[in-house]
Amino acid sequence: MSKPKVFVSRIIADKALERLSAAADIDVWQDELPPTYEVLTEKVSDVEGLLSLLMDKVDAALMDSAIRLKVISNLAVGYDNIDIQEATRRGIPVGNTPEVLTETTADLAFALIMAAARRIVEADKFTRKGLWKTWGPGLMMGQDIHHATLGIVGLGRIGKEVARRAGGFDMKVIYYSRTQAPAETEKELGLKRVATLDKLLAEADFVSINVPLNENTHYLIGKRELEIMKPSAVLVNTSRGPVVDQKALYNALKSGKIFAAGLDVTEVEPIPSDDPLLALDNVIILPHIGSGSIVTREKMALMAADNIIAGLRGEPLPNCVNQEVQKE
Ligand code: DGY
Repeated sequence: MSKPKVFVSRIIADKALERLSAAADIDVWQDELPPTYEVLTEKVSDVEGLLSLLMDKVDAALMDSAIRLKVISNLAVGYDNIDIQEATRRGIPVGNTPEVLTETTADLAFALIMAAARRIVEADKFTRKGLWKTWGPGLMMGQDIHHATLGIVGLGRIGKEVARRAGGFDMKVIYYSRTQAPAETEKELGLKRVATLDKLLAEADFVSINVPLNENTHYLIGKRELEIMKPSAVLVNTSRGPVVDQKALYNALKSGKIFAAGLDVTEVEPIPSDDPLLALDNVIILPHIGSGSIVTREKMALMAADNIIAGLRGEPLPNCVNQEVQKE
């Protein structure tokens, strides 16, 4: 019997490809750049499984052309690139890769907090340019991290791990989230919930964005919100770029309304080379590498492969974002 066909939209960890190819006939996209929407549409036309990345737009029209599609597996915890409602309507389970990347992403959020506060990237560039003339009492002064207040927007898995790391720096941690964390979690992580986002923005020295992107969180942080923040505050975003209005952020950073920002994500990815943010010293911009440790990326790839394999067999996916399909 011939194996089911799977399209894998980028080269992923060897172990995951080996596992997948034992169960399926796989077509792996070899380029560094993602397939265009048109190419992806053609590639999925005769496959039972699609292993997608967050750059791949998987919408209703694409699913229309994927007439044999039984499972979609996204190599990410976020899945805003996929029209989940449409997948559910068609009975297609969608897998993601939670848990395995939580701590790695929280590590990066903390790296951004520290680097933006202490101007690490700017100071390194300064040194390399030969601008370091002497020890200066006013040279490259930043913000203290220890004993400062960290405001977490969205207390999901990653938000909690960012909070845990803050404990090592004796920070006060407040959070804004739709739901209140259980009392034992609040106690364990030393958390205090605040009633409104505005209150968090006004109180926090560091604001870490940890919400998924959806219609409620699009531009959650805009001009008005940035104006509420302290002039000494640092904004860190490791979730999705469109949660922050990037033009408003540029203005706030340029005019000194906030001290600095650390971004792992941007509104358009990759950020266009003429984006004015790139000209500012008080923002660090990374190419969406939050989960990018060698170990974690392999775990994500294996998890994504397992989701595909389960879907091909008609079994529940180990990590499914539209569980209702699996209950049918
Ligand atoms: C995710 O998983 O959603 C990240 O953004 C990429 O690891």
